[in-house]
Amino acid sequence: MTEPVRVAVVGCGFFARNHLFAWKDLAAHGADLVAVCDIDPAKAEAAAREFGVPHWYTDMDDLMSSERVDLLDIATRMDTHGLLVGKAVAAGIATIVQKPFAPDWDAAVAMKQSAEATGVFLAVHENFRFQTPLQRVRNVVAGGAIGVPTWGRISFRTGYDVYAGQPYFYDEERFIILDLGVHTLDMARVLMGEVEHVFCETQRRNPKVRAEDTATIMLRHVSGAVSVVDFSYESRKLPDTFPETLLEIEGPEGSVILEPGLQMRVTRGDETSTTDVGAPLLPWTERPWHVAQEGVLITCRHMLESFRAGEPAETSAEDNLKTFAVVEAAYESAHTRRAAKPRPVP
Ligand SMILES: NC(=O)c1ccc[n+]([C@@H]2O[C@H](COP(=O)([O-])OP(=O)(O)OC[C@H]3O[C@@H](n4cnc5c(N)ncnc54)[C@H](O)[C@@H]3O)[C@@H](O)[C@H]2O)c1
Repeated sequence: MTEPVRVAVVGCGFFARNHLFAWKDLAAHGADLVAVCDIDPAKAEAAAREFGVPHWYTDMDDLMSSERVDLLDIATRMDTHGLLVGKAVAAGIATIVQKPFAPDWDAAVAMKQSAEATGVFLAVHENFRFQTPLQRVRNVVAGGAIGVPTWGRISFRTGYDVYAGQPYFYDEERFIILDLGVHTLDMARVLMGEVEHVFCETQRRNPKVRAEDTATIMLRHVSGAVSVVDFSYESRKLPDTFPETLLEIEGPEGSVILEPGLQMRVTRGDETSTTDVGAPLLPWTERPWHVAQEGVLITCRHMLESFRAGEPAETSAEDNLKTFAVVEAAYESAHTRRAAKPRPVP
């Protein structure tokens, strides 16, 4: 019997509930949720009570000095990541941090380099690529059914009121590319490979938000493939497909399409078939969020397994910086109105 992995969650806000449910479910896989922390004592205490966590803290330093933690899961917002990850890594604690990795490139690079220098496991909780429907598409593409992808479109368009749960969106200096695009651009890398350059147009369609709420990005991949990645929080269409990622990937032998309602259509030559690739509804997940919520569980399970195996996560700091470089290139292109290249990861 392997030793349980002692997990602590820092940040008990809006999205952390999914992490807390996931870690409780992963008790069956050897995760032991030993402590939670939030600078707001009411949130820390409420999370500890609801999820049966033995200890709660309002200061991560106190948590680290009082508890033996094997795996620290930081689910706070990006402006706090540099400080909190810096402390965890300096203490030699394996760490997972929510996306976006950081508000800017330099801060993300600094975290990656400090983890590398100390040999500490550092992963970003990038969860779209682990969602059940997207994993099913990945399997089709990786299995060679359509040949090497040559063209793709990855799309996430909604009018769902994302501001209700995340009111801080109104004031972000850089909004949807960093918040949502980071996921869909990550999927573009996963399905079509590394990116050579991008062209990006942004729009601010909701006058109440400070930054862009819509982006349309064209990517040339190193393989020669071309893709369009487009996303908006201001689409008005019924039925609204939130929070589904729709996509279409073409290759020389066929195509794979993810249609509304989580239906995957695979065409090969003259044959086509459609499969329901929806995520199961778990006791703690609810429509329409359940696909994203289950993705959190699968992501946390992957983190646990990677940490235990002594291997980097698929979404290691290094891997996530490659996606972050595409995000930065998109902002650069929108600003300069020229193609921009993702920078190399130092
Ligand atoms: N992966 C996804 O699909 C997804 C979806 C939604 C949000 N998120 C990400 O999750 C992160 C958190 O977002 P949210 O909407 O839950 O934010 P939130 O503001 O609701 O929660 C953040 C919590 O962190 C706490 N906090 C702040 N500084 C702290 C510190 N120094 N120590 C301990 N606690 C601290 C706050 O008090 C708050 O309770 C963001 O990075 C967001 O982008 C990811």
